[in-house]
Amino acid sequence: MSIHVLLNCVGDPIPMLMEAGFAAEDVIVTPNATHLATADLHRLVRGSTAILAPLTIKIDGDLLDAAGASLEVVANYAVGVDNIDLKACAARGVTVCNGPPPMIEATADIAWALLIATARRLREGIRLAESGDWKGYDPQLLLGHRLHGGTLLVVGAGRIGAAVARRSIGWDMQVLYTARSPKPSLEAPPISATKVSLEDGLPLADAVVLTISLEPSTRHLIDAAALALMKPNSVLVNVSRGPVVDEAALADALAEKRILGAGLDVHEHEPTIQPRLLECPNVTVLPHIGSATVEDRLDLTRLSVENISAVLAGRKPAHEVAPPASSP
Ligand code: GLV
Repeated sequence: MSIHVLLNCVGDPIPMLMEAGFAAEDVIVTPNATHLATADLHRLVRGSTAILAPLTIKIDGDLLDAAGASLEVVANYAVGVDNIDLKACAARGVTVCNGPPPMIEATADIAWALLIATARRLREGIRLAESGDWKGYDPQLLLGHRLHGGTLLVVGAGRIGAAVARRSIGWDMQVLYTARSPKPSLEAPPISATKVSLEDGLPLADAVVLTISLEPSTRHLIDAAALALMKPNSVLVNVSRGPVVDEAALADALAEKRILGAGLDVHEHEPTIQPRLLECPNVTVLPHIGSATVEDRLDLTRLSVENISAVLAGRKPAHEVAPPASSP
């Protein structure tokens, strides 16, 4: 039995795993595994029964082969699983788990923080207030745009998207959403949202929030053509995965003032933040902290331990990620 924890979790997973019946010597924690060379990482995971991985480590066929036939479960310390080759896991009988519940409300909070910060030009305001150059109250100073009463488009309305939509009740917004299937709970009062296509929703929205998962079909979903459909005073917020947005096209749209601004917690080439975006005054950037609260990350550690324990005990884990439809 060997459980490899490939990150520095919030909360020590060892006592949690011991409480679940594992021995301390069954658990190997490598806090900085993200920065290991591939060959070293592969050597490290050899003979693992379970892997707890951060979203910064690619779990592909080569890593699974390096781990070997003993591997039963990969638990991702995240809700998004775009770092994991789900087909390769399914082909080798490896169960994949993630941890949605603690991610939902925290990420929706960050989406709203970015939305308000961008619509109300907080980055410019904070810079001016801290610079010592502020000359005093001016009714023309840093005019933003009203969110209240506007239209919110949630792109990829799953659990996080629904939490984003729920928060809009306080702003009295009309909610539109895109999703694979209708969401009756979003369409019912008090949210009373309407399902739309991306093409129909973008021209109507004052605020566009991306909560869609990254898959081959959603890479660069927001490209130059999509950006061209947005209103000139609209704000784009991304709390899903960076590559959902074509950042070069976004930088063009912002430089040409074709949209009002963008709030980005995630970036196409993390940890690099596109320098052209940083040059735009009306871009609010964060370093991928959507779910970064002590409470939520601690819950995620507990939940990851529960998922691993369940699989290793032959039980169904609470948060198993379904393999892609075409998998064996
Ligand atoms: C964070 O980005 C996550 O997917 O949990």
